[in-house]
Amino acid sequence: MSAQSYDEGDLRAAAAAAIRAPSLHNSQPWRFRLHDGAIEVLADRSRQLAVADSTGWAVNIACGAATFNARLALTNAGTPADLTLLPRDTGPDVIARLTPGSPRPATYPEQALFAAIPHRHSNRKPFFPDPVPSPVRAQLIEAARAELAWLDLLVGMTALTGFAEIAQSADRVLRRNPQYQTEMAGWTHADQAPDGVPVTAGAPATEPQDLLPQRAFTDRRRAPGRDFEPEPLVAILGSAGDRPTDQITAGQALQRVLLTVTDAGLAASMLSQPIEVPTARDQLRRSLHRSGIPQMALRIGYGQPGRPTPRRDLADVLAEQG
Ligand SMILES: Cc1cc2nc3c(=O)[nH]c(=O)nc-3n(C[C@H](O)[C@H](O)[C@H](O)COP(=O)(O)O)c2cc1C
Repeated sequence: MSAQSYDEGDLRAAAAAAIRAPSLHNSQPWRFRLHDGAIEVLADRSRQLAVADSTGWAVNIACGAATFNARLALTNAGTPADLTLLPRDTGPDVIARLTPGSPRPATYPEQALFAAIPHRHSNRKPFFPDPVPSPVRAQLIEAARAELAWLDLLVGMTALTGFAEIAQSADRVLRRNPQYQTEMAGWTHADQAPDGVPVTAGAPATEPQDLLPQRAFTDRRRAPGRDFEPEPLVAILGSAGDRPTDQITAGQALQRVLLTVTDAGLAASMLSQPIEVPTARDQLRRSLHRSGIPQMALRIGYGQPGRPTPRRDLADVLAEQG
């Protein structure tokens, strides 16, 4: 027998998990509500970044990741959801509708991923040189596949430097764009704010010899000449196409990959410059020699556990019943 409807308690549990999801500059572009016994994830367009995200790609990725967390919370409370992305009978801001499916206990992997939610943080600091073990690599690829996306791990220095060149050139394009930089600075905070990126979460300022471009959330420097990390594991997550549903699907897969990373004792950070700049994204797509569209680049490795970044209160993200 399937439950008739989710209630206020389910909504709060789902939203509490969902808001821990990553979002571009920690903009948290989401809201949650009950509608006819279903839980809905909505895009909050007032939080869409006008310069960095004029197409809504980053809102879809973030809301997809939030949806995955909400699904895990509902599964772990005993009633997994049936999922509809962009339901036709509502406006374009309803990203996902979660209706109650048949009650069942959560599987062990579902429990492990749910438990990883509060421990997942972007870690932009240098990783240790220890390689990511093969069985974990296979788990990460499977995590993306389970959510109907793909994850390509870049193997060898040739693939890595090829990616680094594309990412660096995209980063240069964005650094030369004053509107982009002003917008990013507006989301970077030295004090306690409920959203945006705290300067303490930034990577040390980039040095000329660094392989990968990291965002300039801080101007803290590190010892001159010291290499950031010798050979990080870089992964490209992608989807079949680039429609909004593909991007939301990619967001769910991203979150499943990140929680699998966390559960394996690894850390990760995201690099979206080569996705945000269209020519770079196209170059990256062609360099992978596969079908589909890249939606995110990830840097994965062993590192110090990251620190949580702020989130707005639940009261600020729970919308009126629709
Ligand atoms: C669409 C998207 C793009 C992102 N791009 C970057 C990026 O280029 N560089 C970076 O360091 N973090 C990036 N992030 C990570 C966010 O900055 C991060 O999720 C946010 O600050 C919240 O911190 P947390 O991940 O530690 O919870 C991105 C996240 C999303 C969802």
